[in-house]
Amino acid sequence: MIGRLNHVAIAVPDLEAAAKTYRDVLGAKVGEPQAEPDHGVTVVFVELDNTKIELLYPLGDDSPIAGFLSKNASGGIHHVCYEVDDILAARDKLVEEGARILGSGEPKIGAHKKPVLFLHPKDFNGTLVELEQV
Ligand code: CO
Repeated sequence: MIGRLNHVAIAVPDLEAAAKTYRDVLGAKVGEPQAEPDHGVTVVFVELDNTKIELLYPLGDDSPIAGFLSKNASGGIHHVCYEVDDILAARDKLVEEGARILGSGEPKIGAHKKPVLFLHPKDFNGTLVELEQV
């Protein structure tokens, strides 16, 4: 059901410093910060040959990233995103298998303007999983 790894998202306590590390130390292609108010984050995309890294920084008062950073002060891997062809079919299959979908269970439009869902980390070995329809 799942296809390519679309991205790995890393929560960072200092977006500018993290972008600089990826650009100057790791030599990656790093984009400009983009505010995603619907998701409570500012994102910097790092383009790799085979996938992307998303550097996530809290935006607004109830950002999901703020709590994560309070527990992981130096930042850390926040979620992985797998591609699916049909997000509603994927959701229905997952629910049938007993997996929990976060939030309302309806896809939201994600950072790439495509429908996304998040799956409960406890059902996936402690990893927050995002599905994106491509
Ligand atoms: Co993501």
